[in-house]
Amino acid sequence: MSKRYPPPARFADQASTNASQLQSAHERVANDSEGHWLELAKRLDWAHPPTRAKDVSFHRDDFHIRWYEDGALNVSVNCLDRHLATQPDKTAIIFEPDDPNRPARRISYRELHAEVCQMANALTALGVVKGDRVTLYLPMIPEAAVVMLACARLGAIHSVVFGGFSPDALAGRIADCESKLVITADGGFRGGKVIPLKANVDEALSRPGTETVQTVVVLKHAGNTIAWQDRDRWYHDVVAGQPDTHMAAPMQAEDPLFILYTSGSTGKPKGVLHTTGGYLVWASYTHDLLFDLKPNDVYWCTADVGWVTGHSYVVYGPLANGATTLMFEGVPSYPDISRFWQVVDRHGVTLFYTAPTAIRALMREGDAPVLKTSRQSLRLLGTVGEPINPEAWEWYYRVVGDSRCPIIDTWWQTETGAALISPVPGAVDAKPGSATLPLPGVFPALVDAQGAILDGATDGNLVLLDSWPGQMRTVYGDPQRFIDTYFSTYPGRYFTGDGARRDADGYYWITGRVDDVINVSGHRIGTAEVESALVGHPAVAEAAVVGAPHDIKGQGIYAYVTLKSGIEPNEALRKQLVAQVRHDIGPIASPDWLQWAPGLPKTRSGKIMRRILRKIAEDAPDQLGDTSTLADPTVVSSLVTERLNRA
Ligand code: WT7
Repeated sequence: MSKRYPPPARFADQASTNASQLQSAHERVANDSEGHWLELAKRLDWAHPPTRAKDVSFHRDDFHIRWYEDGALNVSVNCLDRHLATQPDKTAIIFEPDDPNRPARRISYRELHAEVCQMANALTALGVVKGDRVTLYLPMIPEAAVVMLACARLGAIHSVVFGGFSPDALAGRIADCESKLVITADGGFRGGKVIPLKANVDEALSRPGTETVQTVVVLKHAGNTIAWQDRDRWYHDVVAGQPDTHMAAPMQAEDPLFILYTSGSTGKPKGVLHTTGGYLVWASYTHDLLFDLKPNDVYWCTADVGWVTGHSYVVYGPLANGATTLMFEGVPSYPDISRFWQVVDRHGVTLFYTAPTAIRALMREGDAPVLKTSRQSLRLLGTVGEPINPEAWEWYYRVVGDSRCPIIDTWWQTETGAALISPVPGAVDAKPGSATLPLPGVFPALVDAQGAILDGATDGNLVLLDSWPGQMRTVYGDPQRFIDTYFSTYPGRYFTGDGARRDADGYYWITGRVDDVINVSGHRIGTAEVESALVGHPAVAEAAVVGAPHDIKGQGIYAYVTLKSGIEPNEALRKQLVAQVRHDIGPIASPDWLQWAPGLPKTRSGKIMRRILRKIAEDAPDQLGDTSTLADPTVVSSLVTERLNRA
């Protein structure tokens, strides 16, 4: 029996949603789901309120996902203009720079609105119109939110690419959606170092396929020297003289809002497409419900805007809710390991949301760096991105939260738009390591390999039986891939790619990906992408990549590499191969371990048996299972003997 943590009394007393209110919401969905969904939509300002909520079929012959389809609204107006009437001077964004000796910035809703309007006018002047794609390659700074919201005003579709991705990875994402415009900065700061963003853009745009880009807008931020191209325009020049008001046109609820690339088990990254109405309903509703949002909260989600968490829970959810959201450009360990808690104290952060990998890394440094800070302002803690081990959960609860703050462990995906399984903090008892229960309107199930639904306490593959408003609508430019990836393994159901256990209380315990996706520090890396980078090196004949347990990252990347005949493995070559992956994808995809493999275990039809490679990497050679079907069973024993010590 795992330990239960009821909501701490002081928190429960003031929580906006208690257990019986949550129960009523579940009942409302059961009895009148259409009424429930239409009611939820009222939290937004619609130019034309929707008269119908859900119109969905997951079936191949009539596949469609539409929410609030006859409604019209503008996301940027919902995040900005409507708050001007009630709270123009409230701080919308607090910016905490990488260097704590530089001043923090506080931007009111009025100021943010003005900046966004200027940028919307500037984008129009640069020829950007509704439906155009705009790529953002920016540091974690307020201008990232400004540009996202300016795109939303026009109906231009933004594609934010994480600043840690390499020029090649950026080029692929620009080419895939045929961006017209790229917005970047000269450089970004991370832990005292400058990341050369503009130089990366220059390199990316020298790659074939990126010719659609007409203009690069460059924000002067880090002050590093950059090369200048004919297509470049300074950010401060394009906004100079632009009016700080802008009439935003309402969008149809199903008009695209953004594309965000994410890795899958095969092929190149998919452009996950989210639309306007349903996405904003779900992002704002879950942000309000799960964080028990109050008017005076100072909310801080540490995710970068390059990931979906940064979209839904740094920008769109909080701003739609009129909250104060903190953006931090730096890293948890700079200038020292107390930085997170120093920022909490400096700005009076009340709601704090981060990833298990950060918690584990900080826990390793002991309690002292935490205990020397106050953290009295905190009232709720959250985690996202990967399963949290119970030890890290308990440490977060006891040391960071002084046993006073509930923890929400929020399970969701880029594809789901926002959280689906999570405790509602004043209503649901937590169990360390469990994302607990589905939110009202979310219908998870566990299925076996054949797709049969399993009842009661069991293990299985996690599917969702029905849609929710924040669901992705398609893979940009490849609708068939959307259906094939998510709705064909178990026809008529959305397959998450995750495995899970459900206990006797109905609580879900996500056990991790069951497909060929590795979750490294909460970031998804496709094994196929890493393999293709490795075989791109002239010395490599073949490569196979799997995930293996990693103390801090959750999972690390374990690569098996077969060299071309006549080439001898050595340390210099190992370094070159790691560099090749960093070059093609980015530092987050660097293999943690690289084992030379004279041969790989394959079936007679030539398919690599990753199950076996995973067990070897996990140091569990006694659990290889049946190897008799291999074309050459003898390759396994040498891989086992030569396996790397991961410690
Ligand atoms: C995958 C989605 C959710 C936004 C950040 C990651 C894993 C996510 C949890 C959690 C256990 C989790 C799943 C999921 N995951 N949250 N609370 N507990 N696992 O988004 O890059 O799309 O990754 O992250 O495996 O499928 P993403």
